[in-house]
Amino acid sequence: MKMIKHMVMLAALAMAAPLAAEETAADSSAAPAAPASVQEIASGVCAGCHNADGNSVIPMNPILAGQQAEYITKQLMDFKASETEPAKRNSPVMSSMVAALSQEDMKKLGEYYAQQKTVPSQIAADEKLLDTGKILYHGGNIENGIPACASCHGPSGAGIVPRYPGVAGQHAEYTLTQLNQFNTGDRGNDNKVMQKVVHRMSATEKRAVSAYISTMR
Ligand code: HEC
Ligand code: HEC
Repeated sequence: MKMIKHMVMLAALAMAAPLAAEETAADSSAAPAAPASVQEIASGVCAGCHNADGNSVIPMNPILAGQQAEYITKQLMDFKASETEPAKRNSPVMSSMVAALSQEDMKKLGEYYAQQKTVPSQIAADEKLLDTGKILYHGGNIENGIPACASCHGPSGAGIVPRYPGVAGQHAEYTLTQLNQFNTGDRGNDNKVMQKVVHRMSATEKRAVSAYISTMR
């Protein structure tokens, strides 16, 4: 009896050992634990453009680390939906990336990126534009009816859960692309909120606010 108990314990130990080794491996990587498959996707195909932890250093690819989970999941679903509804969020690059993702993958990817620590854009902003951008972000432009960005994206740019995404520290080039896409309608997944805002903005205002946002911490 004693012998059998001993053997069972040994077997249990043998089984536990590889599990423990896996856990240690996951713990020692830079990113906090996430369901294995999602971590594989993020550090596989997505990493080429967004980095494994979502901190893209390429100015046209958005930083995803620290973004709201629900917002990220919505964007992935909108890229996917654009196959049949092009006006949702039209991106030839991203629509091929999401084609193979399930609803569950998109949900978990949102949670994964939301857990990562943001490394804000390190790309030098155009200093001349920062004052104009700052005024517009926090106060809007009353003459042209542009609301303060801060009213929906927060005074610190962290966003307001769950509908208004964080923008602080995002690459200026990416932000400017989005403002232009809202303007042309290539991105129409915003309930016309952002479309109305950008229609009233001048080209300089768009560049200025994008530059300022990239410096927000
Ligand atoms: C070849 C480069 C590339 C790869 C690989 C890639 N992306 Fe992207 N991603 C982009 C670009 C470029 C954009 C901006 C598209 C646009 O202008 O609307 C983007 C946008 C996004 C956005 C929207 C972010 C926001 O702030 O609205 C999310 C979320 C995203 N990608 C997630 C992913 C995930 C998840 C993967 C892997 C399955 C992935 N990407 C793979 C280039 C890439
Ligand atoms: C009335 C609320 C509101 C105001 C005011 C507003 N936004 Fe937005 N913004 C939104 C919402 C909602 C979305 C997300 C749309 C979606 O779900 O895709 C968004 C998305 C964005 C995005 C895309 C973020 C990304 O990661 O792709 C940018 C950039 C942005 N807004 C910039 C601005 C700027 C700059 C201003 C001020 C000039 C501004 N917004 C004012 C509500 C607002």
